[in-house]
Amino acid sequence: MLPRQSIEWVDDKVRFIDQRLLPKKLKIIETDDWHVIANAIKGLGLRGAPLIGVAAALGVAVTAVKYQGQNPQRKVLTAIDGLYNTRPTAVNLFWALDQMKELVVQIEDEKKLSKVLVNKALEILEDDRNRCSKIGKYGSSLIKDGANILTVCNTGFLATAGIGTALAAVYNAHDEGKNIHVYACETRPLLQGARLTAWELKNAGIPFTLIVDSAAAGLLAMDKIDLCIIGADRIAANGDVANKVGSYQLALACKEHNVPYYVAAPESTMDWECPSGSQIPLEDREPDEVTSCIGKKIAPDDTPASNPAFDVVPTKLISGFITEKGIMREFPEN
Ligand code: MRU
Repeated sequence: MLPRQSIEWVDDKVRFIDQRLLPKKLKIIETDDWHVIANAIKGLGLRGAPLIGVAAALGVAVTAVKYQGQNPQRKVLTAIDGLYNTRPTAVNLFWALDQMKELVVQIEDEKKLSKVLVNKALEILEDDRNRCSKIGKYGSSLIKDGANILTVCNTGFLATAGIGTALAAVYNAHDEGKNIHVYACETRPLLQGARLTAWELKNAGIPFTLIVDSAAAGLLAMDKIDLCIIGADRIAANGDVANKVGSYQLALACKEHNVPYYVAAPESTMDWECPSGSQIPLEDREPDEVTSCIGKKIAPDDTPASNPAFDVVPTKLISGFITEKGIMREFPEN
């Protein structure tokens, strides 16, 4: 695997980094079983909206190859169904699976089917890689030399098939020789910031400081942040954005302190059928992710806990959208 690559297609199998074990262990899984991919998506071994879409498409392709000559249509449709039901918020999942399903319905020839599905999945992967590179270039244009950037969750190469979305802007700015520094929110409960963003930034030699999520507003009040860039799991037609829980409170704090708040995402994260943020399905995860931390129980037995994985940032709090087409200051529908 290349140093900045989360997933690939090798010898008719899907190979990916199991993000559940990072940063302690860099484990690579190689599989031709869509169940392994679906379980990894559910358990956050494969995560980040763009990567979830790519992984699901590859999961469909691998099923078509595996069952070639054994009525693959039926198996492939079962895989699509199973993958559809892994996580509800990232629209990239449904965007990718719908494209795969359309081909399954159209093509009757078995041999042709696996070839077409593999090509389509690889096209989705390559396409995401290209979108990330463009997002990185546009995003970097917003980052001045000496900037302190605030971010949440993980939006780097682990979260996409390319170099990332919000973190792609950071990678680009660093590669262009800008002297930058990132404040990474740890991102409770599953610590994507502490485990994954810190791991990526450390490996890339980009200066950063890890903070607890609740420290962000204080840093903004002390003028320590120049801009905030986050990713997105789904952007509604009115420009409301669902992203990792905590994104909304960061947006409110940025607004209060006049700090620009950008959302970096490819167009595959936009859901034109969804009118506004209140219609975006937000995933609720198991309470034990809150009552424990990295497998260790931290709350008394039977503590009631609520675990929304995402929240919605109203479009009025967003300074701009960094996409593969450029920077949009306002969403088209507004
Ligand atoms: O629950 P996760 O880790 O899949 O949540 C991921 C995020 O919220 C990311 O910010 C988003 O998917 C964009 S990743 C480029």
